[in-house]
Amino acid sequence: MADDAKPFLQVENLTVRFPVKRGGMFGGKAYLYAVDDISFQLKRGQTLAIVGESGSGKTTAALACARLVPAHSGKVVLDGQDFLAASDVELRKARAKVQFIFQDPYSSLNPRLRAEKIVREPLDSLQTIPAEKRDEVVQKLFKAVGLRPEQMRLFPHQFSGGQRQRIGIARALATQPALIICDEPVSALDVAVQAQILNLLRDLQSDLGLSYLFISHDLGVVQHMCDEVAVMYMGKIVEHASRLDLFNAPQHPYTKALLSAVPSVDKERREAQKRILIPGDPPDPIDPPKGCRFANRCPIAQDICSRSEPALEVKRRGQGESGHRAACHRVDVA
Ligand SMILES: Nc1ncnc2c1ncn2[C@@H]1O[C@H](COP(=O)(O)OP(=O)(O)O)[C@@H](O)[C@H]1O
Ligand code: SF4
Ligand SMILES: [Mg+2]
Repeated sequence: MADDAKPFLQVENLTVRFPVKRGGMFGGKAYLYAVDDISFQLKRGQTLAIVGESGSGKTTAALACARLVPAHSGKVVLDGQDFLAASDVELRKARAKVQFIFQDPYSSLNPRLRAEKIVREPLDSLQTIPAEKRDEVVQKLFKAVGLRPEQMRLFPHQFSGGQRQRIGIARALATQPALIICDEPVSALDVAVQAQILNLLRDLQSDLGLSYLFISHDLGVVQHMCDEVAVMYMGKIVEHASRLDLFNAPQHPYTKALLSAVPSVDKERREAQKRILIPGDPPDPIDPPKGCRFANRCPIAQDICSRSEPALEVKRRGQGESGHRAACHRVDVA
């Protein structure tokens, strides 16, 4: 029996590193910590957005949650099961509970297969539903994502970008997963089509009780789409709060800068809004600075920032039930 009070996905101190070659004549082995000691929870039926610039570790974190890249350390508990320690047989079963929707549906859909076959494939490989029932399931999935039955016979190139993303969603739903990891699912789409796909995802969530890990580089995309937001910077979560707390009372200077680029829906706020530009680039991820990783770009950095690394902790309570965590020494002035 599923226990709704327990998180469906619990990530503890997850670290993923990649071996990289150092430059120079004596270049030895070094590691890039793409995900560096992150922890979060996701409840059944809820959406956690993971937001941050390109290269901040969002995709790697998501892949590690589904054990599609190996974690260096940490724990991923999925539906009560220690996922990283699961045997091959357990892993196969558990994998059916987690599906991905990718940014570019075109490159993730096999161009030689008809849409119906693409959606049917996970059912054929998992074999939990008898073969004669699968056509019916595929028809239902097409309907659920707003595609017409006659479109089942078409090939991916015969669909628009938005329709292709619908096929990707139907395919992801085929195994009746409880968690869907949406990795930049609308970033390649026109704004009008983005809204349609986000609406579809929201409707499916309420109909099917799905949990979403929703990854985006754009806070604007997630502002109507999530219960909580975790902001990542250089492999770390720098702020984590409920959606309302994060959008109404951001605490970390990086989040504030990201938010300043999102046009507010409130007219008065929009008129008063000033864009905070983040100067420079993130430091070398292979050799991150000792203190706060944002220090070289932060408008309010002080000496302490480059000396000691700020912990992600509740500095000022928010309204959300799981608290409002920020990793900054200067939350009071930020
Ligand atoms: N397979 C890999 N080998 C080496 N470095 C990688 C690999 N995958 C990702 N990275 C590095 O890890 C960091 C995080 O990447 P990624 O998770 O793709 O970020 P995001 O999804 O936020 O753009 C980047 O610096 C990226 O270059
Ligand atoms: S710890 Fe310092 S450098 Fe880092 S975000 Fe806070 S004020 Fe800026
Ligand atoms: Mg990515």
